Amino acid sequence: MSDQEPPVPARITIFDTTLRDGEQAPGFSMREAEKVRLARKLDALGVDVMEAGFPIASEDDFNSVRAVAREVRRPVVAALARSVDADIDRAAAALEGAARPRIHTFIATSDLHLEHKLRMSRAECLDHAAAAVRRARRHVSDVEFSAEDATRSDLDFLVAVVEAVVEAGATTVNLPDTVGYATPDEIVRFFQTVRGRVKFADRVVFSAHCHNDLGLAVANSLAALEGGVRQLECTVNGIGERAGNASLEEIVMALRVRPDKLPFTTGIATPELFSSSQLLAEITGEAVQSNKAIVGRNAFAHEAGIHQDGILKDRRTYEIMRPEDVGVPQTTLVLGKHSGRHALKNRCAALRIEPTRLELDELYKRMIALADQKKLVRDDDLFDLWSTMKRAAPRAKAPASRIFREEAALADEAGYGHGV
Ligand code: KIV
Ligand code: ZN
Repeated sequence: MSDQEPPVPARITIFDTTLRDGEQAPGFSMREAEKVRLARKLDALGVDVMEAGFPIASEDDFNSVRAVAREVRRPVVAALARSVDADIDRAAAALEGAARPRIHTFIATSDLHLEHKLRMSRAECLDHAAAAVRRARRHVSDVEFSAEDATRSDLDFLVAVVEAVVEAGATTVNLPDTVGYATPDEIVRFFQTVRGRVKFADRVVFSAHCHNDLGLAVANSLAALEGGVRQLECTVNGIGERAGNASLEEIVMALRVRPDKLPFTTGIATPELFSSSQLLAEITGEAVQSNKAIVGRNAFAHEAGIHQDGILKDRRTYEIMRPEDVGVPQTTLVLGKHSGRHALKNRCAALRIEPTRLELDELYKRMIALADQKKLVRDDDLFDLWSTMKRAAPRAKAPASRIFREEAALADEAGYGHGV
């Protein structure tokens, strides 16, 4: 190979945590059947790993992880566990039917969390971390360890913990920016330093899990790749605790659109991005922000005359990716008050909206009412009508018994403070 040839892009692992970290956010809880439906879609989307839940959190979470593990065969299915025996054994039980199980165990490593939350010394934390990985390895060969609040941890101590878990048999080491505090330049240095200092660092895959409190989750995730990370944790629509996690669709399309700057590939089928985003919105009843990058309803809409003129002459004037590359349907047929049910049904199929016969009747009524007011009903209007209709429909809510709202009780049971 000559010096001029570009490097072969490295294939990175996309670890989707929509069903776990995403589901923890208020308003996003999902029941078993809903999780299984979304898991099938994540499989079609091509995620490498899907974190299905936190089995110790509740009966419902345990059952959901078990159902997803039995349903989905290609991707790795991960279950979360604190560094506590009971959690690890419960995660292993939930994953019993999985084709490719992974136990994901974690403990906080920052002094702030150790002193004020876990009330634990650094030495105890290190012992718990290594013991948890050893226990998880007795159940499965694929074990991920996360050092919660890693980016605010003492570097020497963090290196010691990572060395201990590598020695104990972890196969992936995830260093989360749990509170979304880091900046991209810090993230690059952070991963380079840890990887440079940990003995046998090449035995594990390093992973980043960035939260979006300062709106930097995607930038930090991409920076982590420069620091040597080869697994990124993310969620559809960027949902997750507080301001959310790094958005899967934004990471994937940044890599796709800018290979000159970011020479990495993923296994994601990008034409499935938009429908995955829509399915999540439909299941949770939480609409996608209209200006959301990649999947928002304005992401490919052009209103200003100058922009429309440019787009009509050459789409590349104002579009850096093609709508069809991310599965955003192109309008080929416009609905109006003279359109029949058949036209509506065809449009729905093209948009991958799947109404039942009764829902189609209701949607039709709403579509005609709207057409009376605004002549033409565009695809985004149809999406709005559909999601408003689905939101209005009564939906069985998942019980509010998530571990994150019952941490204290579980922490007592486990014998030490809570973790997430
Ligand atoms: O944000 C975080 O630190 C987490 C860990 C449990 C991976 O979600
Ligand atoms: Zn998280």
